[in-house]
Amino acid sequence: MEKRQELYAGKAKSVFRTDDPDKMVLVFRDDTSAFDGKRIEQLSRKGMVNNKFNAFIMTKLQEAGIPTHFEKCLSDTESLVKSLDMMPIECVVRNVAAGSLCRRLGVTEGQELSPPTFELFLKNDALGDPMINESHVESFGWAKADHLAKAKELTYKVNTVLKELFANGGMILVDYKLEFGLFHGEVVLGDEFSPDGCRLWDSKTREKLDKDRFRQGLGNVIESYEEIGRRIGIDFSA
Ligand code: C5P
Repeated sequence: MEKRQELYAGKAKSVFRTDDPDKMVLVFRDDTSAFDGKRIEQLSRKGMVNNKFNAFIMTKLQEAGIPTHFEKCLSDTESLVKSLDMMPIECVVRNVAAGSLCRRLGVTEGQELSPPTFELFLKNDALGDPMINESHVESFGWAKADHLAKAKELTYKVNTVLKELFANGGMILVDYKLEFGLFHGEVVLGDEFSPDGCRLWDSKTREKLDKDRFRQGLGNVIESYEEIGRRIGIDFSA
């Protein structure tokens, strides 16, 4: 496999073509952004930590029967993935109220959500990723109804697997965002799962361990990502 030209540079990852049209290389950079890219900083080791974190989680999900684009790690900061035709939407599940849900609905952070909520957002930087509903997805052709239904089903299945994984490490999975795409007609989990795209609190102290440390200026961001990893058995030196 040969890494070829850059296809796309996102806020924290870059995507490269390979000599195989079905495979791409994801490069996890140290860039950390918040507030729709208005704040960007370089955090040393972040690319490595998120690449290994994502590899670990994607492997767990795959073992649980959830199809993912992840193939293998190529280096500390690079992973080989399947090339998906991405749906331009974000799927968010929330077990506990936090973030934009509290701002939008005026509910208290920390309120338990039972059953968990499922929300959809359109990936559109210029519009600030607005919240959308399932009929919008169908009417505007962002995804077919059966593909969206599958993405929703898989998003909930991820919740079952990861809530338990993090609970065993003494953490609460508050919420997370997933992105899906099609690979030869099959709905497959793409993008990444790392502390950049989820909220994790310590079960006892409720200390925030995820990207909210960066958003809220709490410090020790990468140390905290490493602590999450350590608690679920990731060896970042491997
Ligand atoms: O900001 P909000 O509360 O809607 O975020 C819900 C979850 O989705 C959080 O875990 C956040 O980190 C994640 N998210 C993300 N990328 C976005 C928007 C939200 O990873 N563009």
